[in-house]
Amino acid sequence: MEEKSKVCVTGGSGYKGHIVHATLRNLDDTSKVGLLKSVPNAVGRLVLFQADIYNPCEFEPAIDCQFVFHVAIPMVPNTHSSQCTRIRLKLPCWVMASSPLNQDGTGFKSSLDESCWTPLDFSYNYGDEFTMGYTKSKTLAEKEILSYNDVENGKLEVVTLPCALVGAGGDTVLSYLPTSTNVILSQLTGKLYAFRALQLLQELLGSGPLVHVDDVCEVHIFCMDKPSLKGKFICAACDPTIREMVDYYRKSYPDLETSEEFLGVLDRGSICNNAKLMEDGFEYKYGMKMIIEDSVECARRLGVLSSCLSSP
Ligand SMILES: NC(=O)c1ccc[n+]([C@@H]2O[C@H](COP(=O)([O-])OP(=O)(O)OC[C@H]3O[C@@H](n4cnc5c(N)ncnc54)[C@H](OP(=O)(O)O)[C@@H]3O)[C@@H](O)[C@H]2O)c1
Repeated sequence: MEEKSKVCVTGGSGYKGHIVHATLRNLDDTSKVGLLKSVPNAVGRLVLFQADIYNPCEFEPAIDCQFVFHVAIPMVPNTHSSQCTRIRLKLPCWVMASSPLNQDGTGFKSSLDESCWTPLDFSYNYGDEFTMGYTKSKTLAEKEILSYNDVENGKLEVVTLPCALVGAGGDTVLSYLPTSTNVILSQLTGKLYAFRALQLLQELLGSGPLVHVDDVCEVHIFCMDKPSLKGKFICAACDPTIREMVDYYRKSYPDLETSEEFLGVLDRGSICNNAKLMEDGFEYKYGMKMIIEDSVECARRLGVLSSCLSSP
């Protein structure tokens, strides 16, 4: 990071990160504000702003920066449109927008890569209104924002990072288990609604790509430090299938029982090709074993998984 450069993280309360300007919808939310202010070195370096995506002007003072990590994601749909302008924008996107399914719905391409876009006109066995609405909005938003890179002399330089399912850090500062980590651990926790999301992931992507939250943070900084980067970069460290995940759990946590309905019936449909980022020099620090172990550790600490579960 250039010395004295300013960075804005919209939705700064979602996960830990390298923050200078962070936005929240409600500065009176003491749990979120307290958490952010407790981050080491926050004093003097962290400035909090109140801003809602549906009132884009509220972001003006916050994005008076060189870089914006646009992390905020509204989970409730709204018809207003948002217009962020200027600067260099880094967006975590959702790998579910990059399905390697053929556009006519007949089977998979051999690999998931940056050229893939999820066909939106089909209904999927494991999708419901919420998950399909989320996938559709992330797909349309990513295509739209990438089109700004083509505008000659445009004010934006855009990098999108379609991220795999994110596993939490074992040392998380959050007081709750993030939804994505719940999905990763659904075969251990026995939460069927979360397992449905894992099944949808494999139905759309042909596997269940994963990445560790620390690598997600690192990749954002990596992209910031490389001004030559532009466009779409798949961010996934590994791509186990549901079956491979349950085999790993059974081997590593033998005292756990996994019921038949959590085994999954879907075979591998495709492989996730994560080469583009790595060809540019990015190295993932966490593979599948560490992602799962940290997620389990996080869930244990938060009391979601039994603490007497023996370690692998
Ligand atoms: N977790 C994953 O597995 C995963 C995978 C791929 C991509 N992603 C993407 O990564 C980004 C962050 O995901 P996450 O899992 O960290 O989400 P998260 O924990 O739910 O955080 C979402 C953030 O968005 C902010 N937000 C929600 N509605 C808003 C609104 N109307 N206006 C302004 N801010 C709003 C929230 O801020 P306040 O509530 O404090 O205002 C919150 O800090 C999203 O774009 C998501 O699609 C996540």
